[in-house]
Amino acid sequence: MDDRLARYVTELFASEDSVLARIRERHAEANLPPIHISPDEGKLLLVLLRATAAKTVLELGALGGYSGVWLARALPPDGRLTTIERDPRHAALARRGFVDAGLADRVRVIEGAALDVLPTLTPGFDAVFVDADKEPLAQYFEWSVRLLRRGGLLLCDNAFFHGAVVDEGDRSAQVEGVRAFNRLAATDPRVVATVVPVRDGLVVGVKVAT
Ligand code: DHB
Ligand code: MG
Repeated sequence: MDDRLARYVTELFASEDSVLARIRERHAEANLPPIHISPDEGKLLLVLLRATAAKTVLELGALGGYSGVWLARALPPDGRLTTIERDPRHAALARRGFVDAGLADRVRVIEGAALDVLPTLTPGFDAVFVDADKEPLAQYFEWSVRLLRRGGLLLCDNAFFHGAVVDEGDRSAQVEGVRAFNRLAATDPRVVATVVPVRDGLVVGVKVAT
């Protein structure tokens, strides 16, 4: 999808309200890397969660809370987003965003490295959105599948990693992590998945077996 079409879709379907715009402004002011999801990707996440009536969602990598607001807005009042963030500065920004969005009672921000936090969580999530560091993605895949209920949604950002996944000369640990996740999502018998070419590629899958 070229940029003009992406803008067209965003303006028509995913225009931001002041809360989302403010989170993005703060994100930029705090010099966070400009790697949060786009509004059209956020809207897709919201639609997928609503379509599956998700109530419990796990996010790996809160960053400044931008994606978390899209995810939490998809939930019913008694739903719960659990989001893991390693960087305390990012976690603080995310918490502020959830308060501003009136979603603080629906979101739990857990500070820590995902691989330390994941073993402490109770399985049964309706959806998992993976958007964290790329090198450990094979391990994040395994934890996500374990923590999802059967029928739950597996979502992962950056399936294309700016096109690097098809650059055969790029053997960096990050790109290899993205390739490993994609390969597992494509071939693991517990999951049926594909990639939606929104922004940097979104893996969308469903857990079909334990
Ligand atoms: C990068 C982009 C992302 O969307 C992300 O989640 C992590 C890293 C990047 O460009 O490095
Ligand atoms: Mg990302």
